[in-house]
Amino acid sequence: MQLIFMGPPGAGKGTQAQLLAALWKIPHISTGDILRACVVAKTDLGQKAQSYMDRGELVPDELLMDIVQERMNQPDARAGWILDGFPRTVAQAAFFDKLLCDVEGSTSGKDCALRAVNLDVPDNVLVARLLSRGRQDDNEETIRRRLQVYREQTEPLIDFYSGRQQLVAVDGDRAMELVTAELQQVLSGDS
Ligand code: AP5
Repeated sequence: MQLIFMGPPGAGKGTQAQLLAALWKIPHISTGDILRACVVAKTDLGQKAQSYMDRGELVPDELLMDIVQERMNQPDARAGWILDGFPRTVAQAAFFDKLLCDVEGSTSGKDCALRAVNLDVPDNVLVARLLSRGRQDDNEETIRRRLQVYREQTEPLIDFYSGRQQLVAVDGDRAMELVTAELQQVLSGDS
């Protein structure tokens, strides 16, 4: 299993990735969780990342590339993984292709077993979900900015993966259990 979970803020990437990673016994790698842990620990990276996260902006690509490269080289990532929230820009996707080729010895990201799952949810539902969760970056102004950044910088990746027949589109605007069941079915053939 080599899965990327995409979708706007509040689409359910983290919720679904955590459940399925536990079920399939593979790591759930959330770049948002890694960054928040660095902020709490006040590491250099956390201090650099915090102001971007508080404003709903993306943390610079080069910081993310270092994080992901280090995490993907850990032994537990050899049997598969679910990446949640990465890649989020075209530059991150190009970097990730190269990283996968290095790790797997393939010549192109198109040849990898990778699938990119896009969870689709309307904006009004996303905003309501995030406001009721109440994480530090879940205030109305930051949520609007995160959605805008998603449309501008991350949504183009849908075409990127779709053009390579690696995209799996799932309606995320349903009860969590129904979304999980469909993901299980389309990704593993189980129902
Ligand atoms: P990140 O942590 O990735 O946040 P996000 O993309 O904004 O996503 P969320 O965690 O808000 O939503 P989600 O889709 O995971 O939904 P969740 O399952 O939590 O990133 C945070 C910040 O870090 C970014 O803004 C950026 O600054 C930085 N960053 C991270 N990665 C980066 C990268 N690659 N490059 C640059 N910067 C990066 O669910 C949300 C809520 O909805 C929960 O309360 C949940 O219980 C509920 N919910 C979920 N599913 C359902 C459902 N089906 N029905 C009802 N409620 C549901």
